[in-house]
Amino acid sequence: MSTIGFIGAGHIGSQVARLAVANGHDVVLSNSRGPASLAPLIAELGSRARAATPLEAATAGEIVVVTIPLKNYRDVPVEPLAGKIVIDTNNYYPQRDGHIPALDDESTTTSELLQAHLPQSKVVKAFNHIYAAELTTHGQPAGSKNRRALVIAGNDPAAKDVVTRLLDQFGFDTVDAGPLKEGWRIQRDTPGYGPRRTADELRKDLSAAKRYRDM
Ligand SMILES: NC(=O)c1ccc[n+]([C@@H]2O[C@H](COP(=O)([O-])OP(=O)(O)OC[C@H]3O[C@@H](n4cnc5c(N)ncnc54)[C@H](OP(=O)(O)O)[C@@H]3O)[C@@H](O)[C@H]2O)c1
Repeated sequence: MSTIGFIGAGHIGSQVARLAVANGHDVVLSNSRGPASLAPLIAELGSRARAATPLEAATAGEIVVVTIPLKNYRDVPVEPLAGKIVIDTNNYYPQRDGHIPALDDESTTTSELLQAHLPQSKVVKAFNHIYAAELTTHGQPAGSKNRRALVIAGNDPAAKDVVTRLLDQFGFDTVDAGPLKEGWRIQRDTPGYGPRRTADELRKDLSAAKRYRDM
């Protein structure tokens, strides 16, 4: 069991926190408005949960989930996340995030931006292509027929192993897309982004993904 820190406690953060608590982990949640604003969620989650500042959540977490609007990724505390696994759920929506030229021209990917901001951390892309509500309704025990799979990507194999085990505990198979630079294969508007997919289906989706410029 781990302590999982959260930078962001909105749709995805709160749902991943529910899964974490249900599976025996402690969670430390943070957002932009401050711990008091998280009181209702902490009350719901119970004694395994507490609210904190982003700095405290980053410090307390053995694993830390970054789940905020991408435009704010530079606010994520750097030093307390050094050496840690950082799970990145973020996606790029220019209408929300403003235009980021390196994403518009696809010279990088969303999770590579976060990795560049957190050079000492082990960033693993996960949870970016499932609707928040489905996180607590689509999970099934390991070995279930047609179990839903989720994509991960990352540069550190050991970190990906840890996240794979976490996803399995949460009810999902995992498909490894490779290093972070391959994360574009599950970005917005790719075949695997959104629908319920098994591991075999998701592997086909990753192969069929097209760059924005080729769509
Ligand atoms: N919604 C989905 O189904 C879904 C699915 C997959 C991936 N995603 C991606 O996951 C990320 C989070 O999505 P979401 O739907 O959970 O967003 P959301 O509901 O809008 O929640 C965002 C959270 O981030 C916090 N936050 C914003 N700026 C922050 C900062 N500078 N420091 C600390 N916390 C900050 C917000 O706090 P305050 O409320 O206090 O401002 C809020 O708790 C996005 O990049 C999104 O594209 C979303």
